[in-house]
This record gives sequence, structure tokens and C-alpha cells, in this order.
Amino acid sequence: MDCLTDSFTPISSILAGKAEGKVVNIRGWVHRSRSSGGLAFIIMRDSSGIIQCAVKKGVVDEVAFNSAKGVFIESSAMVCGTPKKDERAPGGWEIGASDFSVIHQGIPFPIAKDQSVEFLLDTRHLWLRSQKLTKVMKLRDYATRSLRTFFEKRSFIECVPPIITKSACEGGSTLFELDYFGSPAYLSQSGQMYAEVYMQALEKVFILAPSFRAEPSRTVRHLAEYWHLEPEMAFYNQKMNMQLQEEMMVHVCHDIGKNHADLLTDIGRDPEKLLAVKGPFPRITYEKAIEKCRELDCAIEYGQDLGADEEAALTKDAEQPIFIHNHLKAFKAFYMREDPNMPGTVLSADLLAPEGHGEIIGGSERIWDAAELKSRMEEQNLPMKDYQWYVDLREYGSVPHSGFGLGIERLCKWMFGLDHIRDAIPFPRTINRVYP
Ligand code: 4AD
Ligand code: MG
Repeated sequence: MDCLTDSFTPISSILAGKAEGKVVNIRGWVHRSRSSGGLAFIIMRDSSGIIQCAVKKGVVDEVAFNSAKGVFIESSAMVCGTPKKDERAPGGWEIGASDFSVIHQGIPFPIAKDQSVEFLLDTRHLWLRSQKLTKVMKLRDYATRSLRTFFEKRSFIECVPPIITKSACEGGSTLFELDYFGSPAYLSQSGQMYAEVYMQALEKVFILAPSFRAEPSRTVRHLAEYWHLEPEMAFYNQKMNMQLQEEMMVHVCHDIGKNHADLLTDIGRDPEKLLAVKGPFPRITYEKAIEKCRELDCAIEYGQDLGADEEAALTKDAEQPIFIHNHLKAFKAFYMREDPNMPGTVLSADLLAPEGHGEIIGGSERIWDAAELKSRMEEQNLPMKDYQWYVDLREYGSVPHSGFGLGIERLCKWMFGLDHIRDAIPFPRTINRVYP
């Protein structure tokens, strides 16, 4: 029988008109079905698309027709037939089936229309088959590939950090502690400190790995586990660091906007928004940002760090990402170098995405002098013994250097126009969810 061949055709190539008039064999899952009398319409889905199949009694044998009529949604199946153009069918093509067989008849699929957000999260392992999430997963892959290509072209080396560590990179309040054979250790909040090690061997490096934050907040932009892209560059100052981020952002936005416009449109995102991204991005100091926030009626005082509300207000009407730089030393991480030209502030830069999305990158020029680092660590009461190795980096051939951390899901949330960060990652981990 035709259907038992060991080759089969992706639906996308049929939709692209490459199989007109030929007998094809497709394999996938039943996306929708309806039947009346001697005709069953089965919409099949595979990873590449969906296509309607008309299964007619008499054209296919009795067994095939009955299995088409009785098949449940999301069961797996195989269809043989000849594609022809049909404007009424989704995607403009229909397969006139010569055979239909069920590979696995599922039990009734639990997800129908109008399910609650919580139910869809409980059944995430099944809901990931939905058209929108499938497309988001593809786009996410294309985005990370595009970022890797960007760094590869600039001779960066990809490195891997440890995930279990002794040293907090971003402060104690969001550490996940674990029992490491009887003594405390933590899930990594950032691979940065290790990227700084690699930088001294390889000069330009990046890490793409999970980071963990025990974020007690329930917001549309916080995850407890997220993917973190962290480049680190020897001999880069603040200005070069920001320039690199800008080039990276333009590269990934244009690549996705140009080469995956169809996927973006399918999920309701206008590709033009990404194609319009261009440097130089506005750069404003923390001090100016606070003034702007106050003009926008935000209740924030000079001396406080910007939060989600302030970032949303600052970026709501923006068309380009915005750099906020030179935050106060008082509330930024211990490793950020003080700006010799603006004492009391550090050479930090956060990149805020437009349309209200807010921070997607945190970066800085690093302290590279051992004495300066030690004094900052003392100010912040960090236990020296857990950080000795990090101080060592400043004792043996230290160099000026800079780097940054980009949250992949934050980037995707903005680029794909998602309302909530949970849809940028297949299995979101948040304060009240670690299943499935
Ligand atoms: O600003 P953060 O905390 O900076 C660092 O971790 C630095 N060590 C990075 C570096 O210089 N190598 O985090 C960097 C980025 C944020 O801008 C945000 O995009 C993302 O990581 N991020 C989160 N994404 C999702 N959920 C969370 N809870 C996040 N916390 C930070
Ligand atoms: Mg930050």
C-alpha cells in the first residue's frame, strides 16, 4: 500500500505548490475534523503547516472512511492523496484522499475553545501543539540562532558556565539555595563572573545558559528560570559595550523581521516594528530618566532604582530601544566600575525595549582593579572567601572589560509582541508554577 512508504511529504511543500498533481503521503496529527454523510474533512497538521484532506466514501475503502469519520482530534494519522488548489480550503490547497489511516487514536483531547489560562498552563505539555505556541517556539529558535550567528561573525567563543555556584552575582534576595552535600550552594543567577574568567583566555566570549531568580513577584516579565545570553569582552569600555548591544539588536530584529515576517504576522505581530529598529538608540542618564519619570507622574524619587511601572512609562510611546546609563553606585551590583567622570554613579547601562516592555538588557563596565573591587565587596558585606577566585582575576594580568546580560524571554516578549513572558518559554517557572 502507498501509505506504508518510508518517505513522506511535509505539508509546507504542498502548500508551496511543489506537489500539484502528484500522489503524496503526509503524516501528522488531526487538527480539526468534521463529517457529513459520505464525506469527512480532516485538517491535518505537521510541524510545517496545516492542510485540509477530503476523505470520500467510495474513493477510499470502508475501513479508511470509518477511521476518518471516527478519529479524535490530536490523534496521529497518515493520508495518501493528490493535492489540488482549492480557494475555500485553509492555505488554499486540499488533498483528495485515496487512503487514510490512523497511526494512534488518542483519547478525547482535553483542550477545547475558551479554556482558562490556568488550565492551559496545567496542560502545557499538550497546549504546546497549538498553532500560536508552535510558531513562537520556531521564532524563538530563529532568534537565538540569529544571535549566535551575530557573535560568531565577530569571532566570539561560546562558553558554558557552571549552574551550581557558591557566589551570588546579583544579590542575596533572589537566590535559590540548595543543599550541596551538606553545605549551602546556589543555582546561578548569572554566568557573568565565569564569563569574566573565560574573557581572560579568549577575549570575546558569550554564554547562553539558564539563570535562576527566586523572584517573589508575580509580573508579566519575571520568571524563576530564564535563558540568559551573556557576552563579555576584554578591552571594551562602556561606549563600545553599548555600541555592540545596539548592533546586536538591529541585527536580530532585521533578521527576524525580514526572514520570518510570515510567522510574525501569523501570531499578530507587525514585522515592520522590527524592521524599523535602528541605531543610534537614545541614551539617557539615570538622573535624566528620573526627571522624565516625574514629568510622567510616576511616584519615584531620585535614589530609587527604576521599576516596571517607570520603565513602562518611559518606553510606552518609544519606537526605539532606550539606554539608561550611569545608575547610582548605591543600588547597582558590586562589580560595576564607578564612573571617574561622574562619581557616585557606575558605568552601567540597561537597555529598555519600546512599546512599554522595559528592561531587556543589563550591562556594565566591570571593576578591574583589585583594591576597588575589595572595597565595594566590603561595602556590600559579601563573604570574601566565596569570591576569592573572582578577586584573583584582578590580581593576575587584569584588563579593562565590559559585558552585558540579555534575557532571551524578555527579548522574545518584545520582538513577538507577547503580552506575557510565560509564552516566550515552553515551560514557564514562576512563583506558583513548576508543573508540568
Ligand atoms: O540585570 P540583570 O540582573 O544583570 C545580570 O544578571 C548581569 N550579571 C548580566 C551581565 O552583565 N552579564 O539581568 C540581565 C537580564 C535582564 O535585563 C533581563 O532581561 C533578564 O536578564 N532577567 C530576567 N528575565 C526573566 N525573568 C527574570 N526574573 C529576570 N531577571 C533578569
Ligand atoms: Mg537589571
